[in-house]
Amino acid sequence: MSSTKVTDRVVQKWLIFNDTLGCLKINLYFCKAYKYIDDMSKGKDIRYNPAISVKENAKRNGVTEATIRYHIKRQLVDRRYDRKLNIIADCRRYLKKYPNATRTELQKKTGYSLSTIRKYWSYITSEEELTDFDNRKIKKYQLKQMNNYYATHPSVTQDLLRCEQFDRKILEPFCGSGTMAEVIKNNGYEVVSYDIIDRGYGKVGDFFSVDFEANEYDIITNPPYDENLILIIKRCLSLCKNKVALLLPINFLSGKERYDEIYANCPPARVYVYRERINIAIDGDFTKYNKSARNQTVYAWYIWERGREGVTELRWIHNIK
Ligand SMILES: C[S@@+](CC[C@H](N)C(=O)[O-])C[C@H]1O[C@@H](n2cnc3c(N)ncnc32)[C@H](O)[C@@H]1O
Repeated sequence: MSSTKVTDRVVQKWLIFNDTLGCLKINLYFCKAYKYIDDMSKGKDIRYNPAISVKENAKRNGVTEATIRYHIKRQLVDRRYDRKLNIIADCRRYLKKYPNATRTELQKKTGYSLSTIRKYWSYITSEEELTDFDNRKIKKYQLKQMNNYYATHPSVTQDLLRCEQFDRKILEPFCGSGTMAEVIKNNGYEVVSYDIIDRGYGKVGDFFSVDFEANEYDIITNPPYDENLILIIKRCLSLCKNKVALLLPINFLSGKERYDEIYANCPPARVYVYRERINIAIDGDFTKYNKSARNQTVYAWYIWERGREGVTELRWIHNIK
């Protein structure tokens, strides 16, 4: 019987091989991500149709297949949508003929497993239409966002409006319970507000799915600081009429990915750094501010201006409460 002796050299080679594989995977991921961001920044809003192939989707949207694959991953698009529609349609058809049929009977007659039938039972027995997204994944993302609500104290938005002028129409795409939007409105602007979670303010909608009119609004918001932030900034920049104002931690000025994807080609026109700590409250509870360690973050207003060239101006801003 032959055996391979596991020497240090063998282990070393294996580690190098694994590293190379890892790098390849990471490169591939960023390659797709880059193409996607590139397409998005050219103002191409991707419309994915789950009933046709990736290739056909790429052709219809005028983007690469890599972009479509990345979009599917990023936007949590459900690739098995048409299969699910078939399951629901088959079962509905059988139930129409035999309204008293049990789930076990359905399983035997249609060939779908009992767990599949259970999963779609509410659709099978109602008129409800299946959306083209995997609801469980969307719900998981929404659940995550449920707890990802940090409200901006009204004084912070007022600080911005003292320093910057905006177009009459403003989009607040991550409005939460409207603490920013209300201040903007009270300053005489027209505000359109959205949030993925119904927090009792504005319209409910995912920033990546809502069909916003391009070149219609300036954008003012405090976005979620999650893995989508770069895409969020890119989309804001491609949608805005003239200006984008984002409240972000000051350390977001650094970071290789942020630099390569945003600042290298599209640096902000101005950055207003807060002289003091500001009140960003979990769940909008501003009274907890003093107890929360999270407020040690230093924030700044990042202002992008369409067509502006030149270096970024750094200014300081004072929070007047
Ligand atoms: C940091 S909070 C800011 C709320 C508000 N802008 C403020 O400053 O008071 C971010 C908000 O974005 C919402 N959100 C997260 N992902 C979203 C998405 N893809 N589309 C729309 N809203 C989203 C969250 O539900 C949350 O309410």
